[in-house]
Amino acid sequence: MNLFEGVTQPGGATGGVDKALDGAITQLIAAGEIKGKSGELTLVYSLGKIPAKRVIVAGLGKQAGFNVDSIRRVSAEACRFARGKAAKRVATIVHGGGVGGIEPEKAAQAITEGAILGLYRFRKHISKEPENGDVQELLVVERDEAKRSHLEKGCDVGKVTAESVAFARDMINEPANFMTPSVMAEIARNLAGECGLGLTVLERAQMKELGMGGLVGVSQGSHQDPKFIVLSYRGDAASQKTVGLVGKGITFDSGGISLKPAEDMGEMKGDMAGGATVMAAIRAVGKLKPKINVTAVIPATENLPGGSALKPGDVIKAMNGKTIEIISTDAEGRLILADALSYAVKNGLSPVVDVATLTGAIRVALGDVTVGVFGNSEEFSKKVMTAAEEAGERMWQMPMFEEYKEQYKSEVADLKNTGGRPGGAITSALFVGEFVSDTPWVHLDIAGTSLTSKEKGHAVKGATGVAVRTLVNLVMNLAAE
Ligand code: BES
Ligand code: MN
Ligand code: ZN
Repeated sequence: MNLFEGVTQPGGATGGVDKALDGAITQLIAAGEIKGKSGELTLVYSLGKIPAKRVIVAGLGKQAGFNVDSIRRVSAEACRFARGKAAKRVATIVHGGGVGGIEPEKAAQAITEGAILGLYRFRKHISKEPENGDVQELLVVERDEAKRSHLEKGCDVGKVTAESVAFARDMINEPANFMTPSVMAEIARNLAGECGLGLTVLERAQMKELGMGGLVGVSQGSHQDPKFIVLSYRGDAASQKTVGLVGKGITFDSGGISLKPAEDMGEMKGDMAGGATVMAAIRAVGKLKPKINVTAVIPATENLPGGSALKPGDVIKAMNGKTIEIISTDAEGRLILADALSYAVKNGLSPVVDVATLTGAIRVALGDVTVGVFGNSEEFSKKVMTAAEEAGERMWQMPMFEEYKEQYKSEVADLKNTGGRPGGAITSALFVGEFVSDTPWVHLDIAGTSLTSKEKGHAVKGATGVAVRTLVNLVMNLAAE
């Protein structure tokens, strides 16, 4: 059940339950315990008056400003609260569907996403069973039959989307000894079978043949074989156009010879988040089956210091022929993206979005709230921004002024792989843009937002799976154009 802030007499479904409970909710409001504030959750015992043993009243906050994202948050928090009370089955009314005035389909999608994502846990390596068990079932209840088919559709889309986000979270949370490039390729193989996707995995020899000096270079210090993973969804056989999704797949980033400090280095098991994101997005697309073609490209490797590792001062050549002077082996993401984007563009993918945990600088600029958006086409950037807003993911466009390019000019090669600290996220984005020629392209830097240290709304500690929902929504929007 739910209640907007300041309401003293609950209406709609909450009002109905209140009556059945002989005014228990109204009494709690009068006593000042239930205020309807955002984040407020109150447990009411029904003592046999209705079939459900317990009722949770969730505060919705002020009605002004209530939106689909509020629904996602309320659903997540209420479900976690229910789980904490050892609930196994949860039934919910359609938050926002009454006076909230949200379209039933969108409300149902948000409820489903909030529940699945809010209840997400990564317990694969924990032997002990969780104390209160898990919620097994979520039921969305609606009396108005005319709304039901819309609600069902919303639940279906929400389930596919949220399970895909959870799929990305699982990959990102997985320790690097369990999530090697080979394991990523294996997961891609399973995904291809499950969702009817095409799959190509290039091995080191083929990378060399294609001139992928960036990916081959970064992989040199590791004993793990690099993999270049290509997954394709064909939903529109009549069309020549294919959208490209490219994701950074560094399964562990030690920095290489330019070794990172030891503190928090373990976080770098999540440096393949971009790759996981695009795999998750194409998984959802494969299940939702829009009329469009999509190809996901994931260059995957570890970045380790070893006897044959890339060294500062080395020069490598990317697949598009541009040479790069290595200043820092810790600026490895852009080296593998250079090849992946060259490959995407050479294979005619357009438009292209790349997703990467690329720079610490984006974390400084936008914190852990907002994804940095960079692009070479105002028109396409706008579409990505719109898709993000609709999906309830915070993103912000960053400048791509030519002047910054000065910073990565090299005296010994075409480019150098770092542009210094000032504007670090921008120079990295511009560097990556050197490999897309004129193809409309957007780069999402998720280094600040990929992990979270706190439980909040649909996010739980660890991987957030950020950008999956935006990409899925973007593809659906492009298909509907
Ligand atoms: N994977 C890191 C970026 C990163 C930092 C991701 C923090 C998540 C959290 C990336 O490969 C990196 O090391 N970038 C360097 C670039 C620098 C050497 C130009 C950075 O941001 O310090
Ligand atoms: Mn790095
Ligand atoms: Zn990295």
